[in-house]
Amino acid sequence: MRQAQVLPASAPESIRLAAEIIRGGGLVAFPTETVYGLGANALDPDAVAKIFEAKQRPSFDPLIVHIAERLSLDLLVQEIGSADHRLMNAFWPGPLTLILPKRATVPDLVTAGLSTVAVRMPAHSVAQALIREAGVPIAAPSANLFGYVSPTCAQHVLAGLGDRVDLILDGGPCPLGVESTIVSMIGARAELLRPGSVTLAEVQEVLGLAVLVASHQPLVAPGQLPRHYATRTPLTILPAHRVRPVVEEHARVGLLALSAPRHIDDRFCAVEVLSSSGDLREAARNLFAALRRLDALSLDRLYAEPCDEEGLGLAIMDRLRRCAVSNQPKTPEPSTAATTVLAGSTRLTR
Ligand code: TXA
Ligand code: MG
Repeated sequence: MRQAQVLPASAPESIRLAAEIIRGGGLVAFPTETVYGLGANALDPDAVAKIFEAKQRPSFDPLIVHIAERLSLDLLVQEIGSADHRLMNAFWPGPLTLILPKRATVPDLVTAGLSTVAVRMPAHSVAQALIREAGVPIAAPSANLFGYVSPTCAQHVLAGLGDRVDLILDGGPCPLGVESTIVSMIGARAELLRPGSVTLAEVQEVLGLAVLVASHQPLVAPGQLPRHYATRTPLTILPAHRVRPVVEEHARVGLLALSAPRHIDDRFCAVEVLSSSGDLREAARNLFAALRRLDALSLDRLYAEPCDEEGLGLAIMDRLRRCAVSNQPKTPEPSTAATTVLAGSTRLTR
């Protein structure tokens, strides 16, 4: 396929064309408040198959179905419990995905053969407009090659999947930057399957009970494999904020800093600051773009500063850990090349 068209999402004719492509069984990448999604008609197994092919995603990894209004639930799911209703009332439209018992109308490919389906009602106006105009629920994983860092702007999608989608709707950078929180009330207890933009505390407050935080359980959430969100450059999480790593001699290393460093450490060729004030919302918004920029420098290793696993910090650390487990150390090559790097809000050079 030739390079996808990138159209401004603000133009109504872009939405109309995108909706036509979805109805015709094609693939459209579109912005949501969390990350860009790679969308297809959720009720059309052939269209859904194209998502797996484009992303090189294993078919045992189920997709999230996106809807614009609750009426669409009737088509997709069986009974909805009162706790699920409370969560919908509190967080929809928004970055919360619920695992619900599926109806036979949902193709098995969408759910990887599970008896449940993941459903989310995004708040982003472009996602809403596209789903409404298409008139069908849209299955959409993050619009990146399987296992790589999720996309938070149209350029990220173009770089990874540009020759595999029919159209990219450019709606600018995603306002939240990490994926939706996934909650399941299917088992005996409420479970957080993936930490995300809605925090554990917010979910617990609405439910009025403690929610179990799922550890890596590939059988429950197959997509929550340890290997995910990975940069090509190996990444190590530092034991604590502002700890100086032991850097191999001649290695070219980069730092993903949570907040503005107090001193310029010239052992780093590149430093990305997620938020100069250490604000977790800003850090989450910048996380994937910063990882991609560091990864593009072909350094030997990246070091990431950890944050407290409170609030959004739980989602940020989840993504960093999956990035860190998945890549093996590369042999450092001697190099003296200095790199100038835009470090989020700070500019550091060596
Ligand atoms: O913010 C988001 O959720 C983004 C945007 C595009 O909406 N989407 C997203 O999709 O992150 P994806 O495919 O990258 O992640 C979907 C996750 C996977 O971990 C998958 O295993 C899990 O949802 N999932 C899907 N269906 C499931 C089910 N029936 N039971 C348990 N987990 C499920
Ligand atoms: Mg993903």
